[in-house]
Amino acid sequence: MRRTAVVTGASSGIGAEFARQLAARGYDLVLVARTEPALTALAAELTDEHQVRAEVVVQDLAAPDAAARVSDALTALGVTVDLLVNNAGFGTAGRFAQIDPGQEHDELMVNVVTLVDLTHVVLPGMLARGSGAVVNIGSTAGFNIGPHFATYASSKAFVLNFTLALWSELRGTGVTALAVAPGPVRTAFFDRLGTRKAAIGGRMITPERLVAAALRALDRDRGYVVPGASNFAMAHLMPRRPRKLVALLGRRVTSAVADALTPR
Ligand SMILES: NC(=O)c1ccc[n+]([C@@H]2O[C@H](COP(=O)([O-])OP(=O)(O)OC[C@H]3O[C@@H](n4cnc5c(N)ncnc54)[C@H](OP(=O)(O)O)[C@@H]3O)[C@@H](O)[C@H]2O)c1
Repeated sequence: MRRTAVVTGASSGIGAEFARQLAARGYDLVLVARTEPALTALAAELTDEHQVRAEVVVQDLAAPDAAARVSDALTALGVTVDLLVNNAGFGTAGRFAQIDPGQEHDELMVNVVTLVDLTHVVLPGMLARGSGAVVNIGSTAGFNIGPHFATYASSKAFVLNFTLALWSELRGTGVTALAVAPGPVRTAFFDRLGTRKAAIGGRMITPERLVAAALRALDRDRGYVVPGASNFAMAHLMPRRPRKLVALLGRRVTSAVADALTPR
């Protein structure tokens, strides 16, 4: 039986790689993002190389009704969603008061609100069928307090905790959830952020390696995964308490990013 995966943020980086590796596993794809030419080119590539159905949904996921619009598009396409990859996201960094509030609002809409809304769209059908999965892309930034990445790190902490809560709730239903927490990955992420200095700690890995590790973790129903040994160590060995000391030390580590992006 054919299976369909919806991948958000499929126009570049990690999302495009999820689409490629899922197509190689035989999934039909629905590719969601704003950049239509990139989505259309990827859809053609996937159909050519893997003989799968690949559809494109052009949608700004920061829009308040984004999930409803994607849901309508899925209905119009006659698609049953077996796998949702909530990958679309971006970061903001620097001294909080100097960051554009509109950008941070959009960041929370994409990284958090639409991720939750889309999960609501697909879960009832998955539960009724007794199968399916939701993969949410967090970050190692979500394991700790993130001065100079206050909104981004907090959005990814939400993704990690939300997904593990779902994973727990869904036990025994045939449906599952996985949080993927990448360290630095070689994509356009840091160009969009404005500085590669933000890639603090951990080893830069390729999207290919990241997605392969994520899909292995999904096969094994791991709940969450931090691909790359040094990223895993960073995420788990950094002390969490005392929380104020962690926050103060974090500020020192990220001060170069703050100076580069939001000079005093
Ligand atoms: N690269 C890293 O080091 C790293 C580390 C940890 C976590 N992550 C996470 O990994 C995910 C993917 O990032 P990436 O590294 O692959 O970066 P990327 O190459 O910049 O890709 C980001 C994707 O998100 C989409 N997106 C952003 N804003 C959107 C919006 N308003 N509406 C719809 N789509 C939107 C972009 O599509 P359009 O611009 O075409 O809309 C693009 O496809 C993100 O959630 C990011 O936070 C990345």
